[in-house]
Amino acid sequence: MRSQSRRRTLALLAAAVAVFLVAGGAPAQARPAPPDRVAPLGAEFLWGVAASGYQAEGHAPDSNWSRYVAQGKTDDPYFDSIDFYTRFRSDIALAAGLGVKVYRIGIEWARVQPAPGVWDEQGFRFYDELIAAIRAAGMRPMLTLDHWVYPGWEVDRGGWAGPGIVEDWLANARKVVDRYAAADPLWVTFNEPAVYVLNETRHGGISPAAAPAMFDRIAQAHNGIYDHIHAVQPGAMVTSNVAYIPAAEDAVNGATLVHRIADRLDFIGIDYYYGLSPDSLTSFSLAELWKNPLQPEGIYYALRHYARLFPDKPLYIVENGIPTENGMPRADGYTRADNLRDTVYWLQRAVADGIDLIGYNYWSLTDNYEWGSYAPRFGLYTVDVRTDPTLTRRPTDAVAAYTRITREGGVAPDYRPTRAPAACSLVDAAASCADPVAEPR
Ligand code: BGC
Repeated sequence: MRSQSRRRTLALLAAAVAVFLVAGGAPAQARPAPPDRVAPLGAEFLWGVAASGYQAEGHAPDSNWSRYVAQGKTDDPYFDSIDFYTRFRSDIALAAGLGVKVYRIGIEWARVQPAPGVWDEQGFRFYDELIAAIRAAGMRPMLTLDHWVYPGWEVDRGGWAGPGIVEDWLANARKVVDRYAAADPLWVTFNEPAVYVLNETRHGGISPAAAPAMFDRIAQAHNGIYDHIHAVQPGAMVTSNVAYIPAAEDAVNGATLVHRIADRLDFIGIDYYYGLSPDSLTSFSLAELWKNPLQPEGIYYALRHYARLFPDKPLYIVENGIPTENGMPRADGYTRADNLRDTVYWLQRAVADGIDLIGYNYWSLTDNYEWGSYAPRFGLYTVDVRTDPTLTRRPTDAVAAYTRITREGGVAPDYRPTRAPAACSLVDAAASCADPVAEPR
């Protein structure tokens, strides 16, 4: 099942790349010479950490995902994940210790609405306390309305395969927005819609034929809640973050959704994880994420891409990070700290080149349930759910690195990345091959 869906993903990706290459890609633009020194990102810059509800909370109510687990569609059981539900205060203290200003969480629809027309005060009280604790620790909440999880009763109604979900989704989202607008959060309506659709297809939530309808419904729901958010929270900042797809961003995210919600995005949220190179084109793995290539400079191309498309909108890296296999050192020898510093260097370069970047969230504060498996680890703090019943949060080398970055507004002005930019990466084929970003000599 996994290798079949991987082949489907690859076929989609290869087709998208072919379209892109035949079309010739975006014209290369002359790039400024690499500056010798990079300036810090300034006091207003929003350093943050990101997580989702289901992946971290534990004590999960009935949902599409609890059913996928019960149906044996995942490698690992869920257990209680990293038990954020009862440990959120100490995790918030860890985030505050990093010096970040934004803490992204998800509000689980399944937790607050256990049945049609019924909202659970106790479910809401958990988020009341969580949001109050984030604010009391001096951080701004970033709230995700849908990070791929919906209630079991909505599964029974057909989920995203049926038209009724849009009104059901909006009814819940309005309650959430009305309750939390006063906390002045940043809003994410849908997390990575294209990957949401892919995962629902992979796990049987919808049939592949229903994918276009799911995109239509997500667009309707996003546009509907955007107007509501702005009605109750004037000046709100709302996005739906894209999972940047190397070489195929327009063919995948652009064609399916971004352009249909573009006039209802206050900022462009971008998630950047992996690079692409000719030899990794056919070997991208959804199961062994730690085997996929890392090209930190690709974040520069991703930002550039969206700065060109939306010159008037600010950009925000809503997620970025790297996987290890069970917390072991990576085969390529790249450490979390080095990757983080290299990545931040490219953010500073993007800003130096005039890109309006307002924030960056690390995914994630701690390891968590990586949609079916505890093997890929993305945390600044590692947690061994499979073997450590105490669920102790152990710092990786990136904790000290990120703390220094938030204090100093970035890496040192004379920083040089530990990993040189790829000669001709496919993250942005035309720009990266014809006119690649370079390190100063
Ligand atoms: C998702 C997260 C996920 C992360 C790492 C993003 O696609 O939003 O839920 O854990 O990537 O794979």
